[in-house]
Amino acid sequence: MTLGKFITFEGIDGAGKSTHLAFVADLLKSGGRTVIVTREPGGTPLGEKLRELLLHEKMHLETEALLMFAARREHIAEVIEPALARGAWVISDRFTDATFAYQGGGRKLALDKLEALEQWVHPHLQPDLTLLFDVPLDVARARLDATRELDKFEREKAEFFQATRQEYLRRAAQFPARFKVIDSTQAISVIQKELAEIIAGM
Ligand code: TYD
Repeated sequence: MTLGKFITFEGIDGAGKSTHLAFVADLLKSGGRTVIVTREPGGTPLGEKLRELLLHEKMHLETEALLMFAARREHIAEVIEPALARGAWVISDRFTDATFAYQGGGRKLALDKLEALEQWVHPHLQPDLTLLFDVPLDVARARLDATRELDKFEREKAEFFQATRQEYLRRAAQFPARFKVIDSTQAISVIQKELAEIIAGM
């Protein structure tokens, strides 16, 4: 039996990752894979309760980072590791790179604290592939649906997203073996072709 693989989707709000996540999940399923689609913060009943708090309550920055990792600990134990052990492919809408980008880059929490939490919570687990959907800020803002109610993070200012994007790109440069940076200003069809090639190569 082939072991499952772990793929994470990342990018600033409005970069278009949700559209592409559905495409990759369908692609894998049509190739006969068992696919688990999940998300962070969330992915478990407890994690979804933490998500509600994280997205809507004001809290200390370190509380925010700790709760992200608390939800992640549960997610890894309850969903990600059991699925990978069964041979399923796990696709997660965000994972630890998002904490580096948002709480580290955007909110300026010291990265060594996040590195310590990463080492504590998942010393031996990293995604096999991280797809980073990258767009300039103005494109992302224009794509955020003006009619939907924005969460706590989506209401942040331009400088926040600029710093978030920069931290994502720094992580991509730090871990080139698992990251693929996708120019998300391209047409959806062009990106889909690129994604299909990446998946075929796994
Ligand atoms: P998102 O994944 O964009 O979901 P939706 O498309 O439903 O809005 O929303 C999750 C938000 O949480 C997003 O703004 C980024 C933020 N976030 C962090 O700040 N840190 C993290 O570690 C994670 C996983 C998410």
